[in-house]
Parts: sequence; C-alpha cells; structure tokens
Amino acid sequence: MQPIFHSAVSLGKLPEDLVDKLGQFVKVEIVDRTQPLSLERMQELAASFDVILSEPQDRLDRQTLEGGKVKMIAQRAVGFDNIDFEYCKEQGILVANTPGVLDKATADLTFSLFLACARRIVEADKYVRAGLWNGFENELMLGHETAGKTFGIVGMGRIGKEVARRAQAFDMRIIYTRSDCSDSFESDEKDLDLQQKYGACRVSLNTLMRESHFISLNCPLNKDTAGLIGAEQIALMKDQAILINTSRGKVVDEAALVKALVENRIVAGLDVFSYEPNVPEALIKLNNVVLAPHIGSATEETRKAMAQLAVNAVIMAAQGKSAANLLNQSPAL
Ligand code: GLV
Repeated sequence: MQPIFHSAVSLGKLPEDLVDKLGQFVKVEIVDRTQPLSLERMQELAASFDVILSEPQDRLDRQTLEGGKVKMIAQRAVGFDNIDFEYCKEQGILVANTPGVLDKATADLTFSLFLACARRIVEADKYVRAGLWNGFENELMLGHETAGKTFGIVGMGRIGKEVARRAQAFDMRIIYTRSDCSDSFESDEKDLDLQQKYGACRVSLNTLMRESHFISLNCPLNKDTAGLIGAEQIALMKDQAILINTSRGKVVDEAALVKALVENRIVAGLDVFSYEPNVPEALIKLNNVVLAPHIGSATEETRKAMAQLAVNAVIMAAQGKSAANLLNQSPAL
C-alpha cells in the first residue's frame, strides 16, 4: 500500500536543493541540532511528522516511536543501530539507510587515523607547536613501519574491502573476520574472492587479535557485535598494536579499551565512542590515542551523496516505489 506522507522533518541540515526536491512531495521542516535531542523532544517529533530523516545520534526506538505517526525513517548513515528496526518492521514503518556511498570516505578516515597513530602525527604536531623542537634528532618520534606488517580487518563488508584495498597498497599482510568469527567458521566463495583480490586471509577473531599489528573495526553494531572486542580480546593484542575504530563505539568494551590505553599497552585511533559526544575523560591527556568526532563519512561529496540517497528513498516511497536502500525489503534483515 502506498504510504501518504504529509510532513517530513530532517534532523540536521539538508542541502537546499534537496529540501526543494523533497518539498515537491511533502512539507519539510529542518531541526538543526548538534547535540542529541532529548527523549521528550524525539517523542514530540515522532508525534508530529510522517517522515523522519535521521542521523546516528537520533534515538528512534520503541519509546520514541510508540504512539507517534511516523511512517518512514530515512537514516543518513549506513549504520542504523539507533533505530529499533524490529519494532519498525512490526509497525510497518519503512526504514532506509545510505549504503555504498560512504565506503571510500570512511576507509580514508580509517587510514588517516591509522597513519596518524603509526607515525605519531598528532603528538609531533603538538611538539612543534609547543616550541619543543630543537633540531633533527635521530630518535625523535620513532613510529611503526607499515610495510610487511599484519593488518586485521574486523568485518569485511563494503567499508572493510575499501580498507583492504588501501592496506594492500601499503604492502601489508591482510587478515580479516566475517560475521562468524569463531574458531569453527567455514570458508566460502566470498573468502576465495577476497583472497584473490586482496591477498586477504580469513581467520577467527582471536587469531586476528593475536596476529595483527594494526586492527580496524569495520563491522556494524548489532546484537552479535555489541562488546565484540572485550577485555579478553584486547588482552590478546600485541604490545603497542594499533586499534582503529570507525564503526561504532559499542562494538568495543570502552572501559577495557580505556584501561589498556591508560596502561600504555596499546595505541588507538577512535572516531566513535559508546556515549557520543562523551569521550572518556582519561583519554584526553593520552598521547597514545588519536581522537576524532565521528567524521568517518564527513566529506562534502559523501555527505551530499548520503543526503541524496535518503531523500530519494522518501520520494520513491511517496510514489509507492521501493528504493534499493530500503531496509524493509532486505531478506537478510
Ligand atoms: C556513520 O556513522 C554511518 O553509519 O554511516
């Protein structure tokens, strides 16, 4: 049945041309906010709008949606762990996300953090600005060589593959896990393909944690991946191994990660945190962690493409059609 949309709200700014385009089908309002909105405000919006264009910080669970009038959520992100998708399916609420357009930008940020950690770029910048540099020193700011090392990718989806392409260009050995990351996983054709394309070898999570010099988390957050990297997995990491997280904070046990960083056992580049925008206080003064404010997909081009995909999904739904990025039609979900 074709949904009738009268009103849509975009949480966060939307490019003008897209507001106009969407405005031809539905009345559009923009709620420009930087901080996550309160539950009460989210409930108010859910009670007032047929369509919500959301972002990762917007709480769209049963408590927000129950009793509201929302018929569609178009999330401007590939991850949709902030949305209770099971509840939406139950209620016939359409949900779309933005896969495919942000893989390269997110892989670039992953590599930016990785190289910043491996070559101590942020620390070096602070050192120069503080006027501490007295001249060339043979042992100043020694970092890690990347070539010949092992790069572990947790989650070999679209973003994971882009990360693998970059790691391959850096002459690294690539190992990876997929959703079954137990010791008894069974390899299939996809693994053969990944071996051929990137020389990448599938391993269990524990093997990856143990063997990698550098680890990148690129899996979605869901019931199977929440807390996937716990104290036990962190303990398996090599001394001074680098962990990069551009997926979701809750994939990692944040307390265990902070502890390992405070003890200077490992190094990390973090773009995501368990309770954004809160960054654990203990990390602020550490040199062995590089921090970023959830900017994995933040390039002009990618953010525009994400907005376009989300708006397009709403317009198609308003015309009774299903966009390819409509999650409700995915057999895997
Ligand atoms: C961003 O965090 C995304 O999931 O696209």
